[in-house]
Amino acid sequence: MQFFMDTANVEEIRQASQMGIISGVTTNPSLIAREGRNLKEVIQEIAGIVNGPISAEAISLEAGPMIEEARVIATWHKNVVVKIPMTAAGLTAVKTLSDEGIKTNVTLIFSTAQALLAASAGATYVSPFVGRLDDIGETGISLIQELSEVFTIQKIPTQIIAASIRNPIHVIEAAKAGAQIATVPYQVLLQLIKHPLTDAGIAKFLKDWEGLKK
Ligand code: E4P
Repeated sequence: MQFFMDTANVEEIRQASQMGIISGVTTNPSLIAREGRNLKEVIQEIAGIVNGPISAEAISLEAGPMIEEARVIATWHKNVVVKIPMTAAGLTAVKTLSDEGIKTNVTLIFSTAQALLAASAGATYVSPFVGRLDDIGETGISLIQELSEVFTIQKIPTQIIAASIRNPIHVIEAAKAGAQIATVPYQVLLQLIKHPLTDAGIAKFLKDWEGLKK
């Protein structure tokens, strides 16, 4: 499974990139707003750090303006993927953009039916939101499992990005369920790195080493 980072914070992306663990980035309007920066500027800065797909979301809600916006976003860098919301207008946009060779990531996917439609329209990626389903008392990972099974049976090339990841268990379960990608916030990435036995092991090795020097 590949790791994408779900953030618009360039410093976090730089740190994770130096560790060699991320192969792409996803952003959304909330994440961009949190940084208080211009979308194009942030996306181009990220593109200078990570050599992989970088999702930037279109804000328009009507198909025509969404397509126009997406065409502009796609010119910012060769690795840019345009994030399109899962609506009827979004599907129309995905169909046109896909015909033009522009990569899309259909976001806010909460059912297998939505993902199948997005794939039919030509989506490069679909982003099912695991955490937000958990938030309303459903099991987000079940969606990844079903989606992955259906895409495999139907030989659908659209890739699954497990999104709205809130903890390391989500990552492992998404990997077991067959998601090709998990997009992960920096804090979850740090949680994945750490293990108390690793820390204890390092402390013990150092203590024993110090003992040898005495
Ligand atoms: C997906 O691409 C979204 O940016 C993101 O995963 C949403 O996560 P949240 O539900 O934690 O806001």
